Amino acid sequence: MNSRRPKMTDIAKRTVFTIFGSTGDLTYRKLLPAFYNLSYRKKLSDDFIVLCVGRKAYTTEQYLEIAKPWLEKGVRFKFNDVELASFAKHVRYVHMDMTQAIDYQVLETIYEDLGAATHIYYLAVAPDFFQPVAQHLKDAGILKVSRTHRVIVEKPFGKDLASAQAINMKLTEIFGSRNVFRIDHYLGKEMIQNIMTLRFANGMFESVWDKDHIDFIQISATETVGVENRGPYYDQAGALQDMVQNHLFQILSLIAMDVPKSLTAKDIQARQIEVLKNIEGLDAEDVAKNLVLGQYTQSLDGKHIAYRNEDKVAPNSSTETFAAMQVRLKDPKWEGVPFYIRSGKRMRQRATYVVIGFKRPLNELFVQQNPSQDLLLIKIQPEEGIYFRFNAKKPGYGSDISRVSMDFCQSCNFDNRINTPEAYERLLDEAILGDDTLFTSWEQVETTWRFAQTIRNARKAGQIKLHFYPAGTDGPQAAHQLLESQNKQHRWIDYELSEGNDALNHYPEG
Ligand code: BG6
Repeated sequence: MNSRRPKMTDIAKRTVFTIFGSTGDLTYRKLLPAFYNLSYRKKLSDDFIVLCVGRKAYTTEQYLEIAKPWLEKGVRFKFNDVELASFAKHVRYVHMDMTQAIDYQVLETIYEDLGAATHIYYLAVAPDFFQPVAQHLKDAGILKVSRTHRVIVEKPFGKDLASAQAINMKLTEIFGSRNVFRIDHYLGKEMIQNIMTLRFANGMFESVWDKDHIDFIQISATETVGVENRGPYYDQAGALQDMVQNHLFQILSLIAMDVPKSLTAKDIQARQIEVLKNIEGLDAEDVAKNLVLGQYTQSLDGKHIAYRNEDKVAPNSSTETFAAMQVRLKDPKWEGVPFYIRSGKRMRQRATYVVIGFKRPLNELFVQQNPSQDLLLIKIQPEEGIYFRFNAKKPGYGSDISRVSMDFCQSCNFDNRINTPEAYERLLDEAILGDDTLFTSWEQVETTWRFAQTIRNARKAGQIKLHFYPAGTDGPQAAHQLLESQNKQHRWIDYELSEGNDALNHYPEG
């Protein structure tokens, strides 16, 4: 899997990891805690530098003081002054304006002083800045061939397909395609990495992973939080671009892909791309019937405000905070199997999981006893684990059937939790080592942009209605009906399955 890991001798040379956008949410919330965790685990060499670049006039000490409460909240290991001090040794803050060419001369002087062999630039900024920052780095002579340079970018990759293509062209022209790392932090999640192992390392699952045995597949990522302080970004992006186009399509492709030729990034991504290219149901002609978009209104108890009243959100915004869709795959192996996908903010529950619904038995003997549908749940968060519900004989006389389950809770074990890095921690570690296995290829991004673009066009043409749902519920009724319109027996399956509870039934009236 470690196709491009450099040799240990290279790792020993100093690396400078520069964060553009170091006073933003992403840096405080995810990147700095990830570096703290790496420092705690002694994964950073002594001379490793995290160079935090920002327009605010802070000293390094002031910056660390501001970062402290975020770290305290965000790190997964013990937080104390000793650990903080050893993490702080790696951090430097540089006051500069990333839009000004002249400031890059100052940056180059700092780089010269540091004398690093490897430079990693993390663009934790809006996509409008990707190209200018890359160009400034080049023009200032920073991208010397005597050093190794990698750039990491976060979604959104552009505002639409055309701008995504332009950004990609520029970044690959300046850095070379092997050095552009597109981050999708879902790929760093333990249970998402476990999907391939579960499928391909178990003959039992591998042999039933097709249309002959599977009735439907569901992929859900629901959140209880609203847009928080990200109104300006979210109001442009919406749930489709924020969650579905990247994170959920990544999961879909891992769930449906054929076994890769090898475990290299190239071979895994090739299989994932095959799946993405085979998606049916999101073309201009049929997208309207396969997609439900929603937006949250005030919660029924009045505790949460409506999306349109959130800070820096347009009061008449038509941005979706919820999206549900059904797609099929143009692949004989999956013929007729619906894949249901949904994601939303301000929903009843925080849960990310995949449900595999197996076909019911056909033999006459047991059909009369009304067996339940076998369900396999891959729990990604908050709990990590695998849950399987199946039928067994009720103990005692007679042959009645009852639902029973096997539940593997991976994260319930303390050692597992300690050994499981946070998604960003793992991905930064991999990027530092130069391993791009867990990053997204341009082809994946481009393929998903094409769907997103079709959906945008259909929305502009007024073909897709916006449904409303009260904050704290399971989304609009229409999402429920979407499944029923495909198959009368299909329901969204709850994350918390129990004897009497196999489907969601928390939809508001109307
Ligand atoms: C991010 C989205 O990519 O993923 C956020 O921009 C979302 O809106 C987040 O909240 C969810 O990540 P996680 O790891 O909490 O599931």
